[in-house]
Amino acid sequence: MATLAILGCQWGDEGKGKLVDALADRAAWVVRFQGGSNAGHTLVVDGEKTVLHLLPSGILRANKTCVIGPGTVVHMGTLLKEIDELRQRNALRGRLLLDYRAHLVLPSHYILDALMEKKRTIGSTKRGIGPCYADKARRVGLRAADLVDLEHFERRVEQHLEASNARIQELGGRPMLTAELKNELVDQARRLNPYLADTVQALHGALAEGSNILFEGAQGALLDIDFGTYPFVTSSNTGIGGVCTGAGVPPRHIQRVLGVLKAYATRVGEGPFPTELADELGGKLRERGSEFGATTGRPRRCGWFDAVAARFALAVNGVDALAITKIDVLTSFRKLAICTKYRIGGQETDHFPARLQELELVEPVYEYWDGWTDNLKGIQNRAELPAPVEAYLCRLEELLEVPIALVSTGPDRDALMSWGPDPWEGAS
Ligand code: GDP
Ligand code: IMO
Ligand code: MG
Repeated sequence: MATLAILGCQWGDEGKGKLVDALADRAAWVVRFQGGSNAGHTLVVDGEKTVLHLLPSGILRANKTCVIGPGTVVHMGTLLKEIDELRQRNALRGRLLLDYRAHLVLPSHYILDALMEKKRTIGSTKRGIGPCYADKARRVGLRAADLVDLEHFERRVEQHLEASNARIQELGGRPMLTAELKNELVDQARRLNPYLADTVQALHGALAEGSNILFEGAQGALLDIDFGTYPFVTSSNTGIGGVCTGAGVPPRHIQRVLGVLKAYATRVGEGPFPTELADELGGKLRERGSEFGATTGRPRRCGWFDAVAARFALAVNGVDALAITKIDVLTSFRKLAICTKYRIGGQETDHFPARLQELELVEPVYEYWDGWTDNLKGIQNRAELPAPVEAYLCRLEELLEVPIALVSTGPDRDALMSWGPDPWEGAS
């Protein structure tokens, strides 16, 4: 048996979806454990692109059981649309499992997210994530378990919509038309019923049988509600703790952790970003890396690789090995910079500050590396990499003190090179 968690170690969009899809060939199960349709995971197989928001990224491979786990928050309309859009939808029954404990993102959560954004800008994806997790913590949320008995669900929806309308009006919004919404939601509930399951029980069965399991992170370490750049974070634990609390597996069953990092840095939404390039170099990274949000289409903020932030993310999550993505995007830059330390108030430090006020004062300390002009497309072997690419990646490995396992050289599933240890290695 082998289990592997694949976690984003920057501000999201590191290429987790691609890695999960690629490594799922050796897994029997792929498990989403937190977040909701704020995630946008892009898979490219033989040139065909699929963007997934709720379906786990193992779904394109036949015979993989895909779990939407207890710690996730699920917008039923989005999930049903994804199920419908997937060509192999007929083959989904029995291999897509939605846990009873997952919370439901309801129309009120979308409205409240938008209203709250007007008052205090986080730059959320407006997918209702914050308000849904808030209802979960207030213990008033609706769960997938509530979908089983449709009459019960209808009553719960009525109560929820009424209570939410009061809050929406308090925030200056227009109340929802409850009757129409109720019918739509009940219809969605009926359609999702075949996918409901106790995935904790199922996963423990899989563990006992010795199946290989992949845990698919959403968002990234620096968006984690506890360890990220609060309040500019998402509302869930995106890291290793989230695997336990969100999938229902104890730490001893998570054998290996693969941290995914872009070869540079991006962030979408508001919040501190020490190495941001608000100039034409940032624009060039955005253009070459097609850095536009997979969920909202927003341009992503771009900057140089930040080794201080990355080291913090790797430490908090106990990362065993790295996947470095989008190295091809750096082709054609004359010089590349890596932030190795921060300078705060004239003092150099390699500590990632917990206080936002301090983070905002950070001046990155850069070292510069030669760029390259070679096209990396099709390179499958480390030995074929141009010397400056090898040097840049070796420096990242040295700074991060974690071995690189894989290097991604393009969006396609196959544009993935093995560099160091097998990421599943040690997981059996
Ligand atoms: P995720 O949220 O972590 O799954 O990442 P996203 O899918 O939101 O964003 C990553 C983007 O980069 C997607 O458009 C991927 O197709 C693309 N991508 C992934 N790996 C590579 C790579 O190595 N090179 C290039 N050029 N694009 C990549
Ligand atoms: P994937 O899984 C990048 C960001 C939003 C915003 C903050 C809070 O594709 O990597 P939320 O809607 O969660 O309340 O927004 O978090 N954010 C993401 N940024 N990738 C994501 O997911 C993100 N999910 C949320 O832009 O700054
Ligand atoms: Mg994404």
